[in-house]
Amino acid sequence: MKSNKASQQDKRFSRRELFSVASSTAAVAAASFAIPRELSAEPQEHKHHAPLQGFKYDIEGSEGRVTAGGSAKEANVDEFPISESMAGVSMRLHPGGLRELHWHAIAAEWAYVIKGNIRTTVISPSGEAESADFGPGDVWYFPKGHGHALQCLGPEEAHFILVFDDGHFSEFGTFSITDWMGHTSPEILARNLNLPVSAFSSIPRDEAYIIQGNVPPAIPEDLRNATLPENQFPHKFRLAQMTPFRFSGGEERIVSSKEFPIQKTVTGVIQDLKPGALRELHWHPNADEWQYYISGRSRVTIFGAHGRVATEEFRPGQIAFIKQGFGHFVEQVGDEPTRILILFNSPVYEEISLSGWLGANPPALVADNFGFSAEQVAKLPKASRGILS
Ligand SMILES: [Fe+2]
Ligand SMILES: [Fe+2]
Repeated sequence: MKSNKASQQDKRFSRRELFSVASSTAAVAAASFAIPRELSAEPQEHKHHAPLQGFKYDIEGSEGRVTAGGSAKEANVDEFPISESMAGVSMRLHPGGLRELHWHAIAAEWAYVIKGNIRTTVISPSGEAESADFGPGDVWYFPKGHGHALQCLGPEEAHFILVFDDGHFSEFGTFSITDWMGHTSPEILARNLNLPVSAFSSIPRDEAYIIQGNVPPAIPEDLRNATLPENQFPHKFRLAQMTPFRFSGGEERIVSSKEFPIQKTVTGVIQDLKPGALRELHWHPNADEWQYYISGRSRVTIFGAHGRVATEEFRPGQIAFIKQGFGHFVEQVGDEPTRILILFNSPVYEEISLSGWLGANPPALVADNFGFSAEQVAKLPKASRGILS
């Protein structure tokens, strides 16, 4: 399940690299009339720079892992090499589906619910516990190592996107309770858990992962230990309920650690683009950007310095990865509005837009930089435009 698109891109760029090396030979020079202009026109001084990595991956088009209780598809550096700092998982649970008790050793887990209803339980190292119900538009954040489980409340299948703050993370290599107990001697388990040795003969021997269980009751049962203190830093944030930032071409909702204190390593965004909208040219000084297309289509163009630009079109179920500091913009495509789930690997949201930047300079400097007249400079925007119609 190596990336379809990402690997195609790798192939394309490696051909380009090969050309850069080979173009010094007379034979290739003689044949250069056959080389596409994009390649042959590359200036000499840029040839030592590495080509841009592929930044598109079709996560929903991948095979994933299917069990009785649900399924999961993932994109980490194995499938999508550019995504060093974040890994994504698209998970579905059937009603009663249980993502068993587990923790993640190397990454925190951030989630956005697209469809359905889920109940989570989580324990923090301080012994505080929390169980909460999530519906569409809600976000959870489990810090690295906190033990947790997920159950689908029904009546429909739940679909949610998980993003982990380490691209080397694999959902299929997490620390699951059955994997651990199944590989621990029954005598030790009996001593630890107050049951006879025979009780452990029928527990799963290997990781159960996603189990088909019973739909939990609408009113949550009390936790087994009724004396546990409630968590003081909720793991739940209702992102879709936020008042959005509104622009002529769309709107966005941003949740950083300011609004959601436990979310200490990432910032989440839901961005809605009206048909024909343009998310203006900008970059993020402090973070990589991970995108999942929930609905609609868009074209993303990135700029990686040294004359390197690349454009890809995205449709629902595909992800994009834009490296920290890379310039980029998004053009909405098609008649259906586009909704994008975005995650940044910093708890503080930062961006610099082209319009805002030009407004922060004196007119004569801008005129000299572009060879514009004073009248032309006067027409340029002075502040960030966000999403243009
Ligand atoms: Fe998890
Ligand atoms: Fe961006």
